[in-house]
Amino acid sequence: MSSHPAYRPRRLRRTEPLRALVRETTVLPGDLILPLFAVPGSGVRRPVGSMPGVEQTSPDELLKDAEEALRLGLGGVLLFGLPAAKDPEGSGAYDEQGIVQTAVRLLKRELPELLVITDVCLCEYTSHGHCGIIVDGDVDNDRTVPLLARTAVSHAQAGADVVAPSDMMDGRVGAIRAALDHAGLEQTAILSYAAKYASAFYGPFRDAAGSAPEFGDRRTAQMDPGNVAEALREVRLDIAEGADMVMVKPALAYLDVVRRVKDETGFPVCAYHVSGEYAMIEAAAERGWIDGPRAHEEALTSIRRAGADLVISYYARRFARARRG
Ligand code: PBG
Repeated sequence: MSSHPAYRPRRLRRTEPLRALVRETTVLPGDLILPLFAVPGSGVRRPVGSMPGVEQTSPDELLKDAEEALRLGLGGVLLFGLPAAKDPEGSGAYDEQGIVQTAVRLLKRELPELLVITDVCLCEYTSHGHCGIIVDGDVDNDRTVPLLARTAVSHAQAGADVVAPSDMMDGRVGAIRAALDHAGLEQTAILSYAAKYASAFYGPFRDAAGSAPEFGDRRTAQMDPGNVAEALREVRLDIAEGADMVMVKPALAYLDVVRRVKDETGFPVCAYHVSGEYAMIEAAAERGWIDGPRAHEEALTSIRRAGADLVISYYARRFARARRG
């Protein structure tokens, strides 16, 4: 009689086909959304220093990246815009001829099957870099909300399938839903950045999007990192106001929040694996301290395992390319 146990977990780890057969969590290209940064002009392709592999592109170049995203079977793209000019009201955000509106029209004309999500916020368009209208040194919630709704409608009119408000103003999801419906855009979905934390991990993004605040920070709008019950309140509120999908952001430092939101709402949950999380892996890999592709894949797997249905990732395209072999 052997003293060894009858159940030997290592049996199913012997070969990759066995491991694949019993793998509980998978990451597929279709689970991933690729962020793209649109700038005015043509033939422009400007690398973002703090985010290797990420570029600011003019609409014609962005179209090429979007074509590849579609060909690779990614879930979709998420568009950000850097306007030609900024002002205190962020008017470039809701300009029909604005950079995102122009890029969306081109994408939907050339690649109608591509899922296009637009980030709805004013911070890339305001001269002060805050997410709305400043009154007495802080973002004024109720003056900002109508501008966000106007922005969302202009994105949807340009052809966006999904609008994603990332500003964290109170009541914006309800206002956006009402404005979309009023404009006859009841089929445009809302992916709300519902539990968005005031995070240090957004650093590199602010280079990519040129949206660093000129003074202060975003802590009067974005959530305190210590809070999870509040995240659930935010999520429930956005769902009650008409959000179709809810987001937790960042991802890795908030996997517990992702799990709770998934379990407690049953709604489609998106997690944003943000710029700083991406840049940390890239920087360590560049120094030869970790295996970049494996670390990226492990991070994406952990986010899916925590319950995210979809993941916004700067690594999406490289992940899908690697899968193709
Ligand atoms: C705001 C917005 C931000 C990100 C997405 N939308 C920045 C912020 O809130 O300061 C961050 C994304 C990232 O870090 O990858 N429009």
